[in-house]
Amino acid sequence: MTTIDDAHRPVSFSIPTPGGALMSTMGGESYGDPAFFEAEQDLIFEQMWFAAARAADLPTPGAFRKVQVGRESVLVVRDRTGAVNAFLNVCRHRGAMLCTEDSGTVKRHLRCPYHAWTYGLNGKLVAAPNLGALTDHTGTGIDRTEYGLLPVAVREWLGYVWVCLASEPPSFEQDVIGAVTERLGDAEAIGHYDIESLSVGKRIVYDVAANWKLIVENFMECYHCATIHPELTEVLPEFADGLAAQYFVGHGAAFGEDVQGFTIDGGAGLDAIPGVSADQDRRYYAITVRPNVFINLVPDHVIFHRMYPMAVDRTIVECDWLYLPHVVAEGRDVERSVELFHRVNQQDFDACERTQPAMASRAYRNGGVLVPSEHHIGEFHEWVSSKITRGERG
Ligand code: FES
Ligand SMILES: [Fe+2]
Repeated sequence: MTTIDDAHRPVSFSIPTPGGALMSTMGGESYGDPAFFEAEQDLIFEQMWFAAARAADLPTPGAFRKVQVGRESVLVVRDRTGAVNAFLNVCRHRGAMLCTEDSGTVKRHLRCPYHAWTYGLNGKLVAAPNLGALTDHTGTGIDRTEYGLLPVAVREWLGYVWVCLASEPPSFEQDVIGAVTERLGDAEAIGHYDIESLSVGKRIVYDVAANWKLIVENFMECYHCATIHPELTEVLPEFADGLAAQYFVGHGAAFGEDVQGFTIDGGAGLDAIPGVSADQDRRYYAITVRPNVFINLVPDHVIFHRMYPMAVDRTIVECDWLYLPHVVAEGRDVERSVELFHRVNQQDFDACERTQPAMASRAYRNGGVLVPSEHHIGEFHEWVSSKITRGERG
């Protein structure tokens, strides 16, 4: 029973130092303070490899996508040689945003809508009103390469375009491929799914009112599975015990005995990806690739999440369901397949949104606690903290 005295007792700002089975989380301000988020943009998202776009979304020369990477707007463009380039979306003349649309196709050039400086698909400045007349005091014209769009490092892997804003990008092999290998415990395992050749059967974009770390932490643990994922735990009964696939290296959660496929009702899925090995069959694997990717593997499809942190309390999540090309080309019904993880996404993002407001509460100033099945999240917290405190820029 609450008495008046109890109601007026100030909330304690300190939580007991967790002992035994409990570990501390990061404090609330790491999830709610714009200054902390700005440091993460600078030292994490602008330094690391970031999955920006599905390469197949840029099917022809001139196709582009505009994406937010840290504090920068980045243009990902396919050029006339078929290569994909990425540039800062900033006109070198007086700084207008070159492309304001999220995606599209230009014919041959990227033309600034302000004073019409015009860039090739390789970023080179190719035309500007009166450019021919622009000479310096020695009488030479301006260097069109020097005034080209500023390039961003690009790699393609798993059919996605990964970009890195650092002037000296970290090793892609170590940071990206290494993360997948470490999770699956085998360098060959990811190749069995042939993700590069799969087609997008469905894409859903979620605008989540939560800090990106809440979404990562949620993805890493399954303590919540029994509470909020009734459909998922039907298909993957071991998830009801609360131990996520990511708790163990190389572990894939087994489908339930009566489950035929990774679908909303456990009914049969679509055609299985041929390379999937016997030990990967009838299993679900989950991988986190820091800082912005989740990969989910099941025998007949791959669910690939990309997070775009937009603000300390807002993250756009683009989720692709990838199937064998003929499944998509033939217009096969993927809805029961999509519905399972779409529901999981909604359940997870609702939970994250329910948590976000408390990040600014005095009750969460010193954070919360991790139970044993969440202890691997502590390593994620240490990683974030070390990125911020070390302050290294490439
Ligand atoms: S700002 Fe782009 S042409 Fe002037
Ligand atoms: Fe979940």
